Amino acid sequence: MGGPERIQQLAEAVRYHRELYYNQSSPEVTDAEFDALWDELKLLDPENAVLHQVGPEPLPGTVKVEHRFPMRSLDKGTTDEDIIHFITQSTFGGKQYLAQPKLDGSALSLEYVAGNLHRAATRGSGERGEDVTLNAKQVENIPTRLNLPVDCHIRGEVVMPLKTFEEKYRDVSPNPRNLCSGALRQKHGDGKADASDLVFCAYDVKFVKDSPEVQFDSQLLEMLKNEIGIEPAPWQVFDAENPQKEMIKYTKQWSEKRSSYEYEIDGIVFKLDDLQQRERLGSTAHHPRWALAWKFPPEEATSVLLGVDWQTGRTGAVTPVARIAPQTVGGVTVENTTLHNVGEVERLNLNLGDKVLIVRRGDVIPKIESGLGPASQSDLEGRFHADGTSFVGVLPSNKDIQIPSQCPACDGDLEAEGAFLRCIDLMCDARTSRTILYWCRSLEMDGIGEKLVEQLLDAELI
Ligand code: IVH
Repeated sequence: MGGPERIQQLAEAVRYHRELYYNQSSPEVTDAEFDALWDELKLLDPENAVLHQVGPEPLPGTVKVEHRFPMRSLDKGTTDEDIIHFITQSTFGGKQYLAQPKLDGSALSLEYVAGNLHRAATRGSGERGEDVTLNAKQVENIPTRLNLPVDCHIRGEVVMPLKTFEEKYRDVSPNPRNLCSGALRQKHGDGKADASDLVFCAYDVKFVKDSPEVQFDSQLLEMLKNEIGIEPAPWQVFDAENPQKEMIKYTKQWSEKRSSYEYEIDGIVFKLDDLQQRERLGSTAHHPRWALAWKFPPEEATSVLLGVDWQTGRTGAVTPVARIAPQTVGGVTVENTTLHNVGEVERLNLNLGDKVLIVRRGDVIPKIESGLGPASQSDLEGRFHADGTSFVGVLPSNKDIQIPSQCPACDGDLEAEGAFLRCIDLMCDARTSRTILYWCRSLEMDGIGEKLVEQLLDAELI
């Protein structure tokens, strides 16, 4: 059957199961079954309204949204001079600036009509994004109704708390940023992360009509927080005669605070605070002239690759972990760093005993960026562990990294899955202990650590 009857049947089924999934959180079919219905409908009737727009809320990623106010990029800088230059060329009349951390997540625009969430869209090209309303509604601090009946577009960054990333997602993604955009754009909850694990931090609001008569953007942020009911990213206002000194000091303070902040940030955004002055300065085709994204310079250092251990995670993924001579990067002493998967090991083309370049970018844990050829014994000298004790190490002979064919935990066969290696034995101890740890953490059962779980498994108590 491929006629109008089947099309109608499919359209109804898609609508029905989507409603169960999104609005009642009680799906009756698996993602694969849902996909089959969706694909068949798309084949028979690609223009069917259900595929594109069902009621006000289409399936995330299927409908494009023309941004009423374009979502522009920012001009970038990394040095003190870049800040001084920005101030010099943007100060016409006023000298008040506002600064916010540059959150490293996924940009989101929330469109409210009479205070009700009408639509949420990704940034996309800046002119056109994708409708992701259904997923945005799962983000706890995105209200479906504001405290005031205003028509406005609220822009911000969707981020994942680093604590959540470490506890739930470290195994599945190298950084929280990728999870944020994946969680927003997933079609029916089949992404790597739950949208309910994300947090929205606002940085901008534009009113469609009846803009409040305020002089400064910082007043709008106050208004968002205290009257409208949306949480902005933290901000600081600089209004000295020569604000550059304080602004540079602010970047230094955040460089120190960065590693203990609850979200990943990759810099500071400085913006002229006076809204009329912004108008006067205008924009280039690419960015406004009244803002600067000052980015933390990447922190780099060198170490020596001493060994590679393979670990089996909760999902059975076998991950290579590089053991390196202790090295401090961005205030953190690193001795172990993940190589993520076999694909990454092959891409880096490293040998044991190589000198390696370690870079800490936005990511929390510094990683090996590239190999620098064979190291010498002197590359191991003058190094200290995190506890301050001296490191004593012997340079390993320069040889290839061995890729295992057996699971390092249970000795079972491994399967290659693209760039990944996976243990397929459900009874593998490593999988069991990581699963138990994962659930204990999710249930906030403090005091149950790796050692205790291993002891319980050894004693065959679990
Ligand atoms: S202001 C005209 N403030 O950075 C642009 N952007 O490179 C107004 N971002 O995609 C943007 N934190 O999503 C602003 N505190 C912040 C930000 C921020 C992160 C992102 C933004 C944009 C990108 C621009």
